[in-house]
Amino acid sequence: MPPDPLAALRASLAEQLAALRGVAAEELPAPLLDVVVRDHGGIYLIQPADWEALRHEEGGAGRGVPYWARPWPAGLALAAMEPPRGRVLELGCGLGAPSIAAAKAGAEVLATDGSSDAVAFTAHALALNEAVATVAVADWADHGATLVDGGPWDVVLAADVFYTAANVQTALRLLPRLLEPGGELRIADPGRAGARDFLAAARHTFTLDSIPGEDVTLHTLRRR
Ligand SMILES: C[S@@+](CC[C@H](N)C(=O)[O-])C[C@H]1O[C@@H](n2cnc3c(N)ncnc32)[C@H](O)[C@@H]1O
Repeated sequence: MPPDPLAALRASLAEQLAALRGVAAEELPAPLLDVVVRDHGGIYLIQPADWEALRHEEGGAGRGVPYWARPWPAGLALAAMEPPRGRVLELGCGLGAPSIAAAKAGAEVLATDGSSDAVAFTAHALALNEAVATVAVADWADHGATLVDGGPWDVVLAADVFYTAANVQTALRLLPRLLEPGGELRIADPGRAGARDFLAAARHTFTLDSIPGEDVTLHTLRRR
């Protein structure tokens, strides 16, 4: 049998995923390590091959839905925009496409997600794409102050993150503190009610330009 070309990647992923979860590698769910590499418009993402199997396994273990583990249309649309420059923070990076695109174009990027699994996948995808960026586990509800201390950021990226009311409220409090005046917030939204609520409230603090697409609207907000 030919050698498995992804064996080294899987081994490295398993080591990091286990360390971040604080478990032995043998305890990781099998669908988490059954990964494939896919080319999304020139960006290579590492993704679990069977998202439904992973969701099932995580649910059975009492863990949340692994929303991070799919390449959502919003993340791919944000990654396809003209890359941001300067100091860039991505919130809810999932598999990391926008951060990889920005880092490849020379931005100084911090890719974050509340899920440590997402951060491990993004770190490995950055390396696969020969892009350099920093990654961190950060839930905005718990680590907002740390993200503010790391700022101010020139650009904040967020793709499909307004699917809970709690996220909308936290983001409304946090985002103005992350950006300096003139700083840019780029949101990719597949039509979530939460995004509508966020944008309606954010108009007090930001100017708004929107580009509607077939599945995803790209919003650029600038801090007044
Ligand atoms: C629907 S997925 C989108 C993933 C990626 N941005 C994309 O478009 O492919 C939402 C992501 O936001 C992350 N997330 C949701 N709420 C969060 C929070 N409060 N703090 C940090 N990350 C969060 C999830 O872990 C997940 O990776």
